[in-house]
Amino acid sequence: MSIDTPPITPQQYEVLHGGGAEAAEIAKQRLSRRRFLRRSMLAVYGVATTASVAGALYFMYPNLAGQFGSDLNVGKITDFPGAQPKDFKIGQAGVFYVQPAKTYLVHLAPNTQYQLSGSNLKDQLSTESFVKGADGSYWVALYQRCVHLGCTVPFRDDCVSFKCPCHGSHYNVDGEYLDGPAPRSLDRFAMSSDVQRGAALYAQYCFQCHGLNGQGLTGPKLNGNPAVNNLTDDDILRIISGGIANTSDPSKLLMPAWSEQFGGPLTQIDIQYLFALIRSADPNYLSKNGYPTGPGSNGFSQVPSNLQNTNPTAYQTAVAQATASASGQLGQPVDMTNKKAVTLDIVPPPSGATCSPACFSPLNVKVKVGTVITWVNKSTTPHTVTAMVGENPSSPTPAAKIYDSGATKLIMPNQTFTYTVTMAAYNFNKNHAVFYYCQIHPSMVAELIIVP
Ligand code: HEC
Ligand code: FES
Repeated sequence: MSIDTPPITPQQYEVLHGGGAEAAEIAKQRLSRRRFLRRSMLAVYGVATTASVAGALYFMYPNLAGQFGSDLNVGKITDFPGAQPKDFKIGQAGVFYVQPAKTYLVHLAPNTQYQLSGSNLKDQLSTESFVKGADGSYWVALYQRCVHLGCTVPFRDDCVSFKCPCHGSHYNVDGEYLDGPAPRSLDRFAMSSDVQRGAALYAQYCFQCHGLNGQGLTGPKLNGNPAVNNLTDDDILRIISGGIANTSDPSKLLMPAWSEQFGGPLTQIDIQYLFALIRSADPNYLSKNGYPTGPGSNGFSQVPSNLQNTNPTAYQTAVAQATASASGQLGQPVDMTNKKAVTLDIVPPPSGATCSPACFSPLNVKVKVGTVITWVNKSTTPHTVTAMVGENPSSPTPAAKIYDSGATKLIMPNQTFTYTVTMAAYNFNKNHAVFYYCQIHPSMVAELIIVP
């Protein structure tokens, strides 16, 4: 994740809020209050927090649990039933005090009417501190301290609001300022579920081999794969942590190890988030363990938007790959028959991945005879653009008479290769498609569909 300073914990927040030297130290690392709040994440709910899994993890990695600086897991989604504000009861419905986080967790049932006149729910949601649950409910985490002079603010069931005992500041159920000396609304902590976190990690580390939608590419399908669903919790955690050995060559791994314990980039908590993501795709697992099911519960649906935000180029490639794998081919061709000259990019593989099936972008284009195609190497490694004999990408042979940039004069980064589509290319295969690849990275395969 591209977070340049570690997330802040409620404890740090407390220190910062209370002033003093420690606060100055923490504040020094921060940019703006907004970004600061955004980083104060609490992992609130999700499927990974079943007792057996949490227990097993604690046993394996005792010093990581609840460590200063790490996310705080405050429990299962089902421990905090939502309600309409009129039915709120502290600790039972709608509003819960979460002691380790010094925070009120507010869970508004679906269809809650919004509280303040003049502010609408949509605006509130875009402030990014409200989280929408899979069931259409809303969550918000409110810091317990009064923004006037810092007294702890209790929730009052009788008036369905937060009322500060010190000087009478008054906030509604979602922490908005109503009246009294406080200058603004209660502070909110950013919040996310382990499934959401898992989707963000997946969009960084896993989609390259397992596909944008978990549909499988060079790695197996993870989204809705019965074989994966049938793995035990421990097996899934162990596989992600330690990778998968290649039994015919134990010095190599079929899948890399992801846990920092084995030299990978991820903490054990990250691995638990990924576990939660994979389990969220299994409705049977969810219902068996008492988690909400339904269209919003499958975390793989959040991966594309995560990737689109963090790495638009990789996103384009991944979409092409997802289309390719869905159609069993290289996807629907992009129609470029109205152009005399087209540019195709050779893009870098997403970090940690190889260019498989391709870092040609787009992967599949439809062009006319006579079109001038320029490949631009926007990656950091040399490649070739080489037409192949026939249509079997698994054992490509160069078809140099069609086109080949050449294994001896590689297309270096920022260099280009140009080819004008010929009639010979049109007639080369009976379906008028030419597959091409990179001689250095033969798993990079793409396609031209040629029309006369
Ligand atoms: C470089 C490619 C690659 C990347 C990146 C990758 N995997 Fe894998 N993964 C594989 C391969 C290949 C296999 C299957 C190995 C085998 O043949 O048993 C696999 C298997 C798995 C399995 C077991 C599936 C089964 O059917 O048994 C899980 C779970 C898994 N990966 C999760 C992840 C997660 C989570 C990430 C991201 C942190 C990830 N993988 C990233 C290549 C990759
Ligand atoms: S500290 Fe809460 S109103 Fe003054």
